[in-house]
Amino acid sequence: MSFIELKNINKRYKGNSTNSVTDFNLEIEEGEFVAFVGPSGCGKSTTLRMIAGFEDITSGELWINGKLMNQVKPGDRGISMVFQNYALYPHMTVEKNISYGLSNMRLPKDEIKKKTDWACHILGLEELRKRKPKNLSGGQRQRVALGRAIVKESDLFLMDEPLSNLDAKLRVSMRNEISSLHRKLKNTTIYVTHDQVEAMTMADRIVIMKDGVIQQAGKPMELYEHPANQFVAGFIGSPQMNFFTVDIADGYLLFGDGSRYELTNEQKRKLSGLKKVTMGIRGEDIKFAKNYLDEHQHNIMHATIENTEVMGNENNMYFQAAGQLTVARVDKYEVCNPGDQKDFVFLPEKMHFFDAETEKAID
Ligand SMILES: Nc1ncnc2c1ncn2[C@@H]1O[C@H](COP(=O)(O)OP(=O)(O)O)[C@@H](O)[C@H]1O
Ligand SMILES: [Mg+2]
Repeated sequence: MSFIELKNINKRYKGNSTNSVTDFNLEIEEGEFVAFVGPSGCGKSTTLRMIAGFEDITSGELWINGKLMNQVKPGDRGISMVFQNYALYPHMTVEKNISYGLSNMRLPKDEIKKKTDWACHILGLEELRKRKPKNLSGGQRQRVALGRAIVKESDLFLMDEPLSNLDAKLRVSMRNEISSLHRKLKNTTIYVTHDQVEAMTMADRIVIMKDGVIQQAGKPMELYEHPANQFVAGFIGSPQMNFFTVDIADGYLLFGDGSRYELTNEQKRKLSGLKKVTMGIRGEDIKFAKNYLDEHQHNIMHATIENTEVMGNENNMYFQAAGQLTVARVDKYEVCNPGDQKDFVFLPEKMHFFDAETEKAID
């Protein structure tokens, strides 16, 4: 049995006409770091709150460490939770904020001190122990909130968008701190975020949701390279994957503007019997360089440049191609002017195909 098992979990809030979570099935191994990701309103917090016990489970079973948890009180589930709005006690020092929960548990004083020392050490808060929250930076406050959660030494750590109140730079450094904390503590962690970059960079495994339903669960690169459907393909990765609705005839993809792409034998096999599909390709798999054009001469396409976004390390090039706006990720030295005409190729082995109706990936 896995450490956590969610079996056919459904949630419908009182007064709602639809489910907020539908048929949620997932197993999480001990020590795993799992991210729930998806757009706002897709049911991430609801699922996490059902695991924590703050929301009733409408139907289905929640098992933690071999025990059915549906009716177990939050305080008896062995869970620590960090919320988006981690209100610290303003009148208490850092160390008091961290130890307060332990005092409430009536632990012996020396044990409380030991745990608080440990948390301050692991989170780099030793110099700040006597400060009050108003004299801390956002990242330091966030670390205190984490400290408050880790001293409980729970087997299960739940975090609901804990970084969304921080500015971009701090988010990146806290991302790293939470990851390294997880490597040290190795406690099972479920991390909720709407930010696919956080999910990609931190999680062992990502569960991507839409409208209360799991779309795909897998390792970050599995989702990136083998998205199960068009939603996952579009959600993971930045800039977004380009999608083209294309007809298939005589071994060619026919684009809206009349341009054609000759399918490889493998692609023909994959798409046999289909007349219309959605082709997806990521920005980094669109190539302008001469060696690629030479290699794929028979499939050269034409672009009219609209705009170049200079990112510093690389550029996003926006252009009209095959009848629609398309984006490619190119070398930082490749800057074009609006109106420039360029040739490019799609890398055949990097094309994704989705059923035009169901949007499911075609393997
Ligand atoms: N207390 C509630 N009562 C009724 N509906 C709710 C409640 N909390 C959340 N919902 C609804 O459930 C859905 C999922 O919400 P939530 O789990 O908060 O999404 P997420 O965390 O992914 O943004 C949304 O449609 C939301 O409006
Ligand atoms: Mg939420």
